[in-house]
Amino acid sequence: MSPNIVSVLYLISALLFIFALRGLSHPESSRTGNILGIIGMIIAIVTTLMFKSVLSYAEIGAAVLIGGFIGTIIALKIEMTALPQLVAAFHSLVGLAAVFVAAAAFYDPMSFNIGNVGSIFKSSLVEMSIGTFIGAVTFSGSVLAFGKLQGTISGNPIVFKFQHLINALIFLFIVALIVIFVLTQSSSIFWTIVVISILLGFLVVIPIGGADMPVVISMLNSYSGWAACGIGFTLSNNLLIITGALVGSSGAILSYIMSKGMNRSIISVVMGGFGGEQASVGGSDNSDKIVKQGNAEDAAYILKNADSVIIVPGYGMAVAQAQHALREMCDLLKKENINVRYAIHPVAGRMPGHMNVLLAEANVPYEEVLELEEINYDFPMTEVSFVIGANDVTNPAAKTDKTSPIFGMPILDVEKSDSVLFVKRSLATGYSGVDNELFYRDNTTMLFGDAKKMCENIVKALG
Ligand code: TAP
Repeated sequence: MSPNIVSVLYLISALLFIFALRGLSHPESSRTGNILGIIGMIIAIVTTLMFKSVLSYAEIGAAVLIGGFIGTIIALKIEMTALPQLVAAFHSLVGLAAVFVAAAAFYDPMSFNIGNVGSIFKSSLVEMSIGTFIGAVTFSGSVLAFGKLQGTISGNPIVFKFQHLINALIFLFIVALIVIFVLTQSSSIFWTIVVISILLGFLVVIPIGGADMPVVISMLNSYSGWAACGIGFTLSNNLLIITGALVGSSGAILSYIMSKGMNRSIISVVMGGFGGEQASVGGSDNSDKIVKQGNAEDAAYILKNADSVIIVPGYGMAVAQAQHALREMCDLLKKENINVRYAIHPVAGRMPGHMNVLLAEANVPYEEVLELEEINYDFPMTEVSFVIGANDVTNPAAKTDKTSPIFGMPILDVEKSDSVLFVKRSLATGYSGVDNELFYRDNTTMLFGDAKKMCENIVKALG
C-alpha cells in the first residue's frame, strides 16, 4: 500500500477517534461514539496489516486469537463494580508494552530503521528512553492501583517524611540517566532506567488512598496514553502518536476535572499523593450513639408527603443494581406531583460517570440528573434527601475534620434538607473508611437493607 494511501486512512481513523471522544462525552451520544471508535480502530488495524514490513500473518493471527479469547472471557465475566481495577490492569499492560517495544528497538534498531546497534540515532534514543520511563511508571503505578482497588493490598495512604522530595530527586536521577543513556547507548543504563522508573511508579501511587483513588485512575489513564504515544515515535507510526496523544490529553483533562471536583491540586497528584499527612481513618467510637431506624412503609410515607425529593445515588446502588427499582419508585412519586431530581457527585461510585451510566440504563431523563455544583444549593429548600448506597460523598467530615483523609473534598449537602433517608445495609463506612456522623443526626432515618429490595418494598408501599 502506498504511503499516501496509508496516511489518508490513518487520518480518517484519527478523525473517527476524535469524533468518538466527542460522542463519549454525553450518555445520549455515547453509543454512536463507541461505534465510531470501533470503525476507526478497524481501519487502523487493517491498514497496519497491509504494511510490507508485516512478515508473518500466522503469528499475528495467533496473537489476535489468544488475546481476543482472553479479552472476551474477561468482558463476559467482569462485574460492573470491578471495572476500575480492570481498567488499572489494562493500563499496566499498555505501560509494559511501551517498555518491551523500546527494548526491542534498542536491541534490534535496524528493524525499526533507527540506525545500527551502538549507533542508534540520538533522537530515537531520546524518544525510546522517555517512552520507557513513562511506560515503566504506568506499569508499576497501575499494578499498585489494581491491588488497592481489588482490596489485595490496603487502600490506605502510606505516607512518610520527605515523600515529595524523594520522588522529585528520583525523577531528577532518571533525567540524568536518560542523558547518560543517550550519550553512551549502554544497555545497563537502559535497564536501570526501567527499574528506577518502576520504583517511582510505586512511590507515586502509595501515598494515595481512600477517596482519592479515582483521580489516580484517570491520571494513569493519561500516562498510558503518553506511553502509547512514545511507542508511536519508536515505531514511526503517526496514528499511534495521535491516538496516544488523544488518550494522554483526554486523561489529563479528566484528571484535572476530577482533582477540581475533589478540591485537590493537580500538581500534587502528578507528584504522588495529596499531602496525605492527614491519614486518620475511622475515628470516633459510635457504639453508644442512637440511630433512628425506619422501614419501607415509613420511607413511603415520608416521601409521599414531600413536595421535593433529591435522590443521591452511590456505589451501593451499583452493587445492588437498584437503578430500575429506584426509577420505578421515582415515577410513582412524580405521579403525585413531587419534584424529583438526582444529585451526582463527581466521584460517586467507582468510576467516572458510574452513576450517570446506571441511571441512563434505567431510562432516567437526563434533565433530572444534575451535577453537584448545579444542585448543591437546593438542599436547604428540599424536604427529603433519599441517599441510596452513597456514603463518603455526603460525609460532613470532609468539611469539618482537618485530620480526615477526605478533608477538602466537596460533598453533597444532604444534611441541609429537612429529612435524610439513608438506604444501606449497616452503619459500615464507605470506600474511604471514614465514619459518617450523619447516620446519628436527628433528621436522619436509616433504612437498613439491600438497596434494590428496599426500593422494591417502597414501590409496593407507595402503590
Ligand atoms: P461509598 O462511600 O463507597 O459508600 C457506599 C455505601 O454503599 C457503603 O457504605 C455500603 O454500606 C453501601 N452498600 C454497599 N452495598 C450495598 C447494597 N447492596 N445495598 C445498599 N447499600 C450498599 O460510596 P460513594 O458515596 O458512592 O462514594 C464513592 C467513594 O468511592 C468515594 O470515596 C470515592 O472517592 C471512591 N472511589 C470513587 C471512584 C470513582 S471514579 N467514582 C473510583 C475509586 C474510588 P453498607 O455496607 O452498610 O451497605
